[in-house]
This record gives sequence, C-alpha cells and structure tokens, in this order.
Amino acid sequence: MSDYQDGRMGKVFLLGAGPGDPDLLTIKARNYLKISDVVVYDRLVSPDILELCPRLSQRVYVGKETGHHSLPQGEINRLLAQHALAGSTVARLKGGDPFVFGRGGEEALFLAKRGIPFEVVPGVTSAVAAPACAGIPLTHRGIASGFHVVTGHDALSSRKVEWEILSQENETLVVLMGVHSLGEIARVLMSHGRQADTPVAVIEWGTTPKQRVVTSTLSRIETKVMELGVAAPAVIVIGDVVRLRESLRWFPLESLE
Ligand SMILES: C[S@@+](CC[C@H](N)C(=O)[O-])C[C@H]1O[C@@H](n2cnc3c(N)ncnc32)[C@H](O)[C@@H]1O
Repeated sequence: MSDYQDGRMGKVFLLGAGPGDPDLLTIKARNYLKISDVVVYDRLVSPDILELCPRLSQRVYVGKETGHHSLPQGEINRLLAQHALAGSTVARLKGGDPFVFGRGGEEALFLAKRGIPFEVVPGVTSAVAAPACAGIPLTHRGIASGFHVVTGHDALSSRKVEWEILSQENETLVVLMGVHSLGEIARVLMSHGRQADTPVAVIEWGTTPKQRVVTSTLSRIETKVMELGVAAPAVIVIGDVVRLRESLRWFPLESLE
C-alpha cells in the first residue's frame, strides 16, 4: 500500500483543464477534481470548471498574466509539496495540457525529487483545440504532412529554434503566446523562405463563446491583428491548411473576423 493510499501523505494531481470549453475537460480530470481538498489553478482555467471543485475545498489562484507572475514558479512548487505533505489531495489545474508550455514538467520534477506522489492527467491542448474549432486541420493529405508547436514568448530569443525547419511549405506551424511577437515571427519565417502570401489564422479565446478568428497572410497579419485589437490568449496557425477554413468553418459561437 502506498503512502497516499494509507493516508500518510497526500497526492498532487496535475490536471489538464483543457482549452476553455468546460465540456473539453476529461472525465478523469473531473473525477479527481471532485475529490480534491486544495485546488491550485491558473488564469486560463474556466470558471465553469472551478464550479466542479468540492464546496469546502481550498482554492488558490496562482495565475500568470503575460509578463507578470502573481506567484513565482518556485513558490507554486513549494505550495503543492506543502499541501501534499500535510496529507491533502491537491488538484493542480492547468489550462490545456499540463506538459505543453505549462511548466507541469517542472512541478512534477520538484515533487518527484521529494518523493511526493503525483499523477499527470493529460488535457486537450489549445494548440490543437483552437485550430479544430476554427475549422483548420493541422495536417491534411497533400497540404501539410506534420505540424510544429512553438512558443512566441521565447522563440525569437532561443538559439535552439530551427527556423529552416519551421519555414518548410508542407508543414504547419502553431505558435502559442505569440501575439506580441507575431510581426517578428512572420519576418523571420519569410527571411527563411516561407512565402509572404502563406495564410495565417489567429484564434483568440478558441473553443469558448468569445472565440474570434482573424485570417490574413504572413506579410499582412501583424497589421490586421493590431487593427482589430486581437489579444492573448490566442493560437496562431501558419500554413496552407488555413485555407481549408473557407470550407470547414463550423463553430456556431464565433464572432467577427
Ligand atoms: C502558458 S500557455 C499554456 C498552454 C496550455 N498548457 C495548453 O496546452 O493549451 C498559454 C497560451 O496558450 C494559448 N491558449 C490557451 N488557451 C487558449 C484559448 N482558449 N484560445 C487561444 N489560445 C489559448 C495562448 O497562446 C496562451 O497565451
């Protein structure tokens, strides 16, 4: 019997909360959420999902705005460990999937090093859910044979990004946290050979009633996004698959383009 099962220690559940639509929370995440004593959650976790927490559970907001960290990552790690060591069942709710640009790996490592039981429940990442709800398949026979997901947050400062690979015509590029650096990303891609007329979609608040999709080309998207005041959270999709949206647009709640 484990320390968690015999009640000597709590456990941390790193739960993917999905991209925004509460119906995209997995059944497993929902079940764990319902038995939690403490819920530690991020900014993009839907209020409808928080409604599922037990009435008496303690809720701790540790959300991060772009450029502002309301609680440093080290303190979040310590908070999770502290509650688990005190015997609590902790739900660590993270937007999308915990291991996709969510620092879930760092939290899991912190717990693993201390022998604190944890479990990871994958979530539906916005990197695929937002394009799906915008009517954009990330791969499509004859158009795109694969896709890459990068963050705009540090893509431009990281020497590790292989722009030649990301600029290939038959691949789709998905950028998270990229609205502020969109113009720069577009210019770098064009300088590595991606065509200026490559279609681009920016999906704001994908999967939710606030979903808005703006489309243009690599050379024009920055201006259009600025004119329309598109802001985070948004997923950027770059590649010929964006054209399929003209035929596959289906999302009933979508607002202006
Ligand atoms: C810190 S990252 C977390 C990503 C998350 N772990 C995931 O798998 O979706 C936050 C970024 O995810 C994207 N994002 C999350 N939810 C979104 C949504 N509903 N619509 C559009 N973009 C979203 C945005 O690019 C946002 O800046």
